Amino acid sequence: MHPRISIGIIGTGWVGASVAISVLQAGAAQELILFDARDGLAEGEAMDLAHGASFYPSATVRAGSLAEMQDTQAIVITAGKNGAPGQSRLDLLRDNLAILRGIALQLRGYTGIVVIVSNPIDVLVYDFTQASGLPPERVIGTGTMLDTTRLRQILGQRLALDPRSIHAQVLGEHGDSEAVLWSGAEVGGVPLRSWPGWQRADEAQIALQVRRAAYEIIQRKGATNHAIGLVTAHLLHGMLRDERRVLTVTRVQTGALGLFGVALSLPTVVGAGGALQVLEPALEADERTALLRSAEVLRAAIASVDF
Ligand code: 2OP
Repeated sequence: MHPRISIGIIGTGWVGASVAISVLQAGAAQELILFDARDGLAEGEAMDLAHGASFYPSATVRAGSLAEMQDTQAIVITAGKNGAPGQSRLDLLRDNLAILRGIALQLRGYTGIVVIVSNPIDVLVYDFTQASGLPPERVIGTGTMLDTTRLRQILGQRLALDPRSIHAQVLGEHGDSEAVLWSGAEVGGVPLRSWPGWQRADEAQIALQVRRAAYEIIQRKGATNHAIGLVTAHLLHGMLRDERRVLTVTRVQTGALGLFGVALSLPTVVGAGGALQVLEPALEADERTALLRSAEVLRAAIASVDF
């Protein structure tokens, strides 16, 4: 018999709650343990989610402490502030760093995989890896998976195709310096740049739309939560079943594309052991420059706090 798949979620605000319902509906966990620093919030969410048990694959949901999450296969961290209208993800750095450091110290020795969703995700993944002492393949972030899904949705609309048939990726920082890999984008083996009617002149505007997506949503509803919930559930579902999907997750890089000492998203094979194998996609000169610039932005953010 396979062990029960158990997942912990730390932080049950907008994002944590959306991750929880997406995980349950995807059947990604048989046990979900929720924690929030605010009194009663995790209990309330657990009760509400548990009442829907007739409508998702068999699973239990309860509130529990971080100590009770030690035997889970994965812990998702959504704790911390989310951006106010107009704030960049890097603006959240100081507040969220302190919160995640506290969590990292409690998870030293954890044997599962930590999935960070809080922002600024790349800097938090870097710091959490240092503070927890966990190996880089077991501290990962959803990174540009969210930007990648936004890009595919926009391209799907333009080409009148299912976004799942569009292979295009956003890499680098999950934030303002991210880079779209236009040269490698393709549909059914046809390079996007050879697609009938494709205009290279439109690329910058599409990339801007992807980059601005979170700002636009936060301005209207105060937070983003649904797409990131689905992204996180997709990541967990494939990872814990060792499906070895290639996903644009962020982790501390240890040499891919010559990058060290910084966490950012690159296409990565994700399996039961975490973000195992970082791939080095073919890049045109401007894409390489954009990625290296993104790494510099993140290094500067790391250097701006007292590590
Ligand atoms: C998002 O991109 C704010 O990182 C969050 O939706």
